[in-house]
Amino acid sequence: MLGAEAVEIWTDVPGMFSANPRQVPDARLLSRLDYAEAQEIATTGAKVLHPRCIHPLREVRVPLLIKDTNRPELPGTAIGWSTVQTAPSVKAISSRKGITLVSMESISMWQQVGFLADVFGAFKAHGLSVDLIGSSETNVTVSLDPSDNLLDSDVLARLCADLEAFCRVKVIAPCAAITMVGRGMRAMLHRLSAVLAEFGALDVHLISQSSNNLNLTFVVDEGLADALIPRLHALLIRAEAMRVDDAAVFGPSWRELAEGAAAAPRPAWWRHRREALLALAASGSPRYAYDLDEVRARARDLRALGAVDRWHYALKANPHPAILQVLHEEGFAFECVSIAEVEHVRRTLPALPPERILFTPNFAPREEYRAGLAAGVRMTLDALHPIVEWGADFADRDILLRVDLGSGRGHHDKVKTGGAQSKFGVALDEIETFREHARRHGARIVGLHAHLGSGILDTGHWRGVYAQIASLAERFNRIEMLDIGGGLGVPSRPDDAALDLAGLDATLAEVRSAYPQFKLWMEPGRYLVAEAGVLLGRVTQVKRKGEVHYVGIDAGMNSLIRPALYEAWHAIVNLTRLDEPPADLVQVVGPICETGDVLGHNRRLPPCREGDVILIAEAGAYGAVMGSRYNLREPAAEVIV
Ligand code: LLP
Repeated sequence: MLGAEAVEIWTDVPGMFSANPRQVPDARLLSRLDYAEAQEIATTGAKVLHPRCIHPLREVRVPLLIKDTNRPELPGTAIGWSTVQTAPSVKAISSRKGITLVSMESISMWQQVGFLADVFGAFKAHGLSVDLIGSSETNVTVSLDPSDNLLDSDVLARLCADLEAFCRVKVIAPCAAITMVGRGMRAMLHRLSAVLAEFGALDVHLISQSSNNLNLTFVVDEGLADALIPRLHALLIRAEAMRVDDAAVFGPSWRELAEGAAAAPRPAWWRHRREALLALAASGSPRYAYDLDEVRARARDLRALGAVDRWHYALKANPHPAILQVLHEEGFAFECVSIAEVEHVRRTLPALPPERILFTPNFAPREEYRAGLAAGVRMTLDALHPIVEWGADFADRDILLRVDLGSGRGHHDKVKTGGAQSKFGVALDEIETFREHARRHGARIVGLHAHLGSGILDTGHWRGVYAQIASLAERFNRIEMLDIGGGLGVPSRPDDAALDLAGLDATLAEVRSAYPQFKLWMEPGRYLVAEAGVLLGRVTQVKRKGEVHYVGIDAGMNSLIRPALYEAWHAIVNLTRLDEPPADLVQVVGPICETGDVLGHNRRLPPCREGDVILIAEAGAYGAVMGSRYNLREPAAEVIV
């Protein structure tokens, strides 16, 4: 009525969050919401706003700003008519406790006119407002939210007595309603599989999808909610259903606000080499650019871990000769998966003793094993077949045995290398058979090896592997070393925390103190080279189709296949316009004839023009080496800067 330009609410929290920060310290401040989303979040759990306060503003389109009185510098939450373009995203997950479900079962309900009118009439008569509804041929289940209803056992008893006239009634309580809110929920279902899998293990009483397409709600036993919410919040981020990389919507986390800005991550080297990289791209594009100082620095980080006796570089990640040279200088041995890799190391580093090459073939032909033995490299066998069928080849040889501990880990299912669905390693129940054949042929098992996956950021993983193979090793009589693989991840998404190397060292040292008789080996690839490499491409064309903006670059999936193959997330910037504020939400695509030729979905970049240089980060591992000539386009050439 005042014709106000805006309403500001000054309160004691910084705004609305993607979850209750008391349950989820990583919940993110929601910087911008439209009225309907804010309404939905307020209704389904958030306490910052009373659900009824949004409606009068929405009617006349007055924007609402929530600000923190104690920290006025924080941006707060702006609620208004949606004007900016944002990635489809789950904005928040909330839970309401104290929910009562009333389940009404009637055999005569099918095609019976007026059944719902009768039962809802009973709710109306008792002054009870119904929240969620699920129905089938013979059952209607509804929820009553205590915040809307004055629920006491007398009211409930009277309601049930009335309902008994039409159906059999069951009351299920106490329950919790867990709700995900976001505009266009139905368009995000394909990203929710991990979330649905969590619910799969539980007894879900009711699922309801709001007809305004803004929420999806699960009703479960009340006791489950507290533990579930933080897990689901993390899963939503991981599955890119909650697009926390969209800085226009998601602000800092509660934890960051409480602790002050998180320890600033190491600034990426390429920010200081911008001019050199722009010049490089001007002289030819697309290009992979590598910084060897970065490789050296990561090598030194790892060599500082006292618990590990010997480090190998898994050169499948990036076999560039200059990188092998640096890692050799830094004291690394090498892990190879093919005889071609073995030969490549020997050509690049002729003085390297063969004993410093570890050869771990998988389903390779017999000739490769024979060539490896002839070259005098250390061999790891990962199946019964070689020892059973070609056992004589290994007579009087020292070998390592790769075991499968039964389950894998990794940034994507396709990089998990444990469990029956993965083709690597000897299953635990076949180890005795392997030993018998090794004994019969006079092969000595001097080491156990387990590598269960790639891109792991949780240090507990290696502790578990180490402890398991160490206890296994005690059953053997001449084990000298335990190789607990590679798999050390690097943070890629904005929310990933870096691997805690000091923590890794400490946890490995603990296991080591229990098994001092074994040497500890590791064999990372990615960790050493991922951040040292970037892929540079130039903008070829821009295009718009409806609401979707495309920025095309000359580097496609033939140069970097990881986004297409693993949905891997690589940071992308417009290097030409590094200082300009991000604006448009774009799809960064390549020139390859595949719909999957997308380097980054829904990225926020400054407006891009033909010729701009686009930089794709963390591309030093599994980038160039997985390139192809598909469409007869040469993949990006590699340059050391
Ligand atoms: N050791 C063995 C036996 C391996 O199979 C691997 C990787 C490594 C060590 C090194 O793992 P890393 O530290 O690099 O995670 N192309 C995928 C990764 C495949 C990894 C294959 N094996 C990607 O781009 O994520």
